[in-house]
Amino acid sequence: TTPIIIDTDPGQDDAVALLLAAASPELELLGVTTVAGNVPLRLTTLNARKVLELAGRDDVPVCAGADRPLDRDLVTAEHVHGDTGLNGVDLPEPTLPVDPRHAVDFIVQTLREREAGTVTLCPLGPLTNIALALRQAPDIAPRIRRIVLMGGGFFEGGNVTPAAEFNVYVDPQAAHEVFTSGVPITMAPLDVTHQVLTTAARIDAIRRVGNRVGTVVAAWMEFFERYDEEKYGQDGGPLHDPCVIAWLLQPQLFSGRDCNVRIETHSELTRGMSVIDWWGVTGLSANAQVLRHVDADGFFALLTERLARLR
Ligand code: BDR
Ligand code: CA
Repeated sequence: TTPIIIDTDPGQDDAVALLLAAASPELELLGVTTVAGNVPLRLTTLNARKVLELAGRDDVPVCAGADRPLDRDLVTAEHVHGDTGLNGVDLPEPTLPVDPRHAVDFIVQTLREREAGTVTLCPLGPLTNIALALRQAPDIAPRIRRIVLMGGGFFEGGNVTPAAEFNVYVDPQAAHEVFTSGVPITMAPLDVTHQVLTTAARIDAIRRVGNRVGTVVAAWMEFFERYDEEKYGQDGGPLHDPCVIAWLLQPQLFSGRDCNVRIETHSELTRGMSVIDWWGVTGLSANAQVLRHVDADGFFALLTERLARLR
């Protein structure tokens, strides 16, 4: 099994990623750390607890982390996710407590305790907690097996500004520090996540698995997709964050290449842009595996089969 820590700002698509991980015996979910992003930290932490409880995984610690980006004000995305971050269905108030450890301390402690090179970090939101952990404890960098993240976009453009994807846009400095950390990175940018669309037929298949999780996920998707359906005029919204977990489970569903990636942290026009040197024109060495294509039907077959294992 692959031990992972999921760092997240749920968000419906984050929630589906959590459920996919919770349902997959190939992954050992060591903990969930929360960050401010789609909605403020108080809500992302509440949502993470609700989702783990829905999955029946109250054995997993939930640690709250940074409530704002490193050096700028928080930008949120209620216009996409709704005011709670998880609009679409009301889940019960969770009984699962918040772990007393700060997310950054949990990440550092876990990486130091576990055998070096075994733990994979899965950031699904702004990279603030990961950057803070690397600042606080540079010794953890070589101990991280890989960072598999959802963020960025290049050929597809941005979803917050013409140049920037949300997770990188919210905390570009943190993204810059992560991409220059020397830790192996796999990146699922909008270029790949925009191929994974929650069409009506795919939502129906999820609803038909017949358990509570299937009903909840279908309701979340129907809320979440309305934003992208309107904006891009398509059937279905992109299930961004579950791509990270799907890559860990079935990397053969994806293709991409190793590239140099740099993050724009200053420009007023393009701040938060992930500049992906797909064609190797800079001669700079690769610092990330950039995913570009995915077998979307294969992805939904995997997701649907795993959600059926929950309750
Ligand atoms: C990313 O931003 C958030 O709204 C989603 O949860 C995803 O992590 C997509 O740009
Ligand atoms: Ca997210």
